[in-house]
Amino acid sequence: MRLFILAQMHQRTTMCIVHSPLRDAATPYTKRCGTLVHMKAYNIKNYGEPDKVLRLIEAEQPKPKNTEVQVKVCATAINDYDWCITTGKPFAYRLFFGIFSPRKKLMIPGMEVAGIVEQVGNNATKFKAGDAVYGDISEFGFGSFAEFLCIDEKALAHKPDSMSFEEATSIPHAAMLALQSLRDVGQIKDGQKILINGGGGGVGSFGLQLAKLYNADVTGVDTGEKLNAMETQGFDNLIDYKKEDFTKSNQQYDLILDCKTNRSLWKFLKVLKPEGKYISIGGRSGNLLQMLYMSPILKLFSKKRVQMVMLKANKDLGYINQLYEDNKINCVIDGPYTFDKIPWAIQRFGDGLHNGKIVISVNKQCHNNGYNSTWRN
Ligand SMILES: NC(=O)c1ccc[n+]([C@@H]2O[C@H](COP(=O)([O-])OP(=O)(O)OC[C@H]3O[C@@H](n4cnc5c(N)ncnc54)[C@H](OP(=O)(O)O)[C@@H]3O)[C@@H](O)[C@H]2O)c1
Repeated sequence: MRLFILAQMHQRTTMCIVHSPLRDAATPYTKRCGTLVHMKAYNIKNYGEPDKVLRLIEAEQPKPKNTEVQVKVCATAINDYDWCITTGKPFAYRLFFGIFSPRKKLMIPGMEVAGIVEQVGNNATKFKAGDAVYGDISEFGFGSFAEFLCIDEKALAHKPDSMSFEEATSIPHAAMLALQSLRDVGQIKDGQKILINGGGGGVGSFGLQLAKLYNADVTGVDTGEKLNAMETQGFDNLIDYKKEDFTKSNQQYDLILDCKTNRSLWKFLKVLKPEGKYISIGGRSGNLLQMLYMSPILKLFSKKRVQMVMLKANKDLGYINQLYEDNKINCVIDGPYTFDKIPWAIQRFGDGLHNGKIVISVNKQCHNNGYNSTWRN
């Protein structure tokens, strides 16, 4: 469903390619040519390895219509969707975006943004030029792998002054998924025992911090060098999924937050406490389907619960802003990397080498403009 909405929104993207791919990707810039104002953007022409199919082009800068605002992109982040849309895998993505290659001539990925409002559409009332904003734009479209984008004002929130653009862009998608999973769906309670499968990624890093607000005992499952970083972040217990299958252990959990859903439902049920909840945010489609039809049946003979989360984009950014300002939450950032590294960064995501959110600094001018871009330790 969400994929369908994304596809519909993407059809509305209204930029046009101006001329051939650029060779020098290192320095994002905007240039004026006749009456058109141009910008750099990454376009996907075919599906495949990110460094082969993502082309840096010059495109016409989009103009805001109606309730849209034009945002100068200061920072963006890499997400699961960027990997899927670039590689055309899983195949379901191609049903929406084009079977053999993307249907649209201009397909700019990127769905998280932090930036500065440059212009507002005629009926946009929420922001004014100069406001620093951020958000998950996926309910309205894509396009943050560019110097500018136009998006409905509803997709954005004000960025707190104390938060850098790089931190801000790392928050919306992963923090909302973690919050909505643990608090809204899981109804987390004080002192519970929680396991996060795929805990070394973006959702896991926010999930840990949110769970700690409830004094939870948190086990993280991931692998490799990420385990050291996860220990530093504060996971109480760590399991290397390449060495140990947590579903075969005798530990039981009140809540399991699963970012991978790579096993059958029956295996997870064994490691849930009698009233425990298993919450999936995504993963293998066969396992997700099994959950969908088994969940109502399970209710007939067990108090264990199995639920899937449908992300409500940006729903509680205000709450996360408050936690950030109260120093109760930090952003775990992989990078930030420069704009020319976007294809490499998507590959890094696909290879699972990242720790936390992969962040890209797009426009250095943002930071020379009186806007805060300091790092917090
Ligand atoms: N529900 C919704 O509405 C919604 C919306 C958007 C996205 N999503 C879902 O959200 C998830 C993305 O979460 P994220 O951003 O945190 O992803 P992420 O940053 O890629 O983190 C996932 C972590 O899991 C690790 N991992 C890989 N295989 C594993 C295994 N067998 N067992 C345990 N861990 C494993 C990965 O490491 P290695 O690969 O290095 O091993 C990685 O560190 C995706 O499943 C996506 O489909 C859901």
